[in-house]
Amino acid sequence: MGVVKMVVRRLVVAITGASGSIYARSLLRNIVPHYETVYVIVSDTASIIMRDELGTDDVRKVVGMAEKLTVLDNTDMSAPPSSGSHQYDGMVVVPCSMGAVGRIAAGVSQDLISRVADVCLKERRRLVLVPRETPLSAIHLENLLKLSRAGAVVLPASPPFYNKPQTIDDLVNAVTARILSHLGIEQDLVKEWKE
Ligand SMILES: Cc1cc2nc3c(=O)[nH]c(=O)nc-3n(C[C@H](O)[C@H](O)[C@H](O)COP(=O)(O)O)c2cc1C
Repeated sequence: MGVVKMVVRRLVVAITGASGSIYARSLLRNIVPHYETVYVIVSDTASIIMRDELGTDDVRKVVGMAEKLTVLDNTDMSAPPSSGSHQYDGMVVVPCSMGAVGRIAAGVSQDLISRVADVCLKERRRLVLVPRETPLSAIHLENLLKLSRAGAVVLPASPPFYNKPQTIDDLVNAVTARILSHLGIEQDLVKEWKE
């Protein structure tokens, strides 16, 4: 008879080379308490942008709660989440560059970020993409449509203004709150509309 095991809650967060590292920081700070392990993968360009926008690309320093974070190298194709046999809830790519969108839409899986996204799509796990680019070309739009049809949630870093944001944190929290809802995590960062 099989042994019943506790379900381990794990999530992958990828940070790619779009502006908006602050969205990744906010999401990580808010989700880490909800998971046993959060795998973090940072692309090379994301590191450059993090240093520029957050002053450091040291994810553990930026997020805290280091014991829950496992930072993976984007070139490590044999890291645990590269296999569908490894159990994890899904992945958030935040911010998501159009380059990453293109690679995931094409299914090329040549780095760990695009491979994990590919695994999430084939295993029907949650894949939330938080793109940041403007304007969008027809290629970007077609890739995003393809990903949405394949099961990804396309959640642009596009905060609303109906809740009268006063600070950058208010704007960032509004996007983080939407990501949390898509992960099934209750949030109190932002009030629901008409609540
Ligand atoms: C400072 C800086 C800001 C960038 N901002 C964006 C952006 O907002 N959106 C985007 O799609 N690409 C942006 N790029 C371009 C991507 O970083 C580039 O296409 C890169 O190859 C993406 O690779 P990655 O997906 O592996 O991180 C930016 C690049 C730099 C250096």
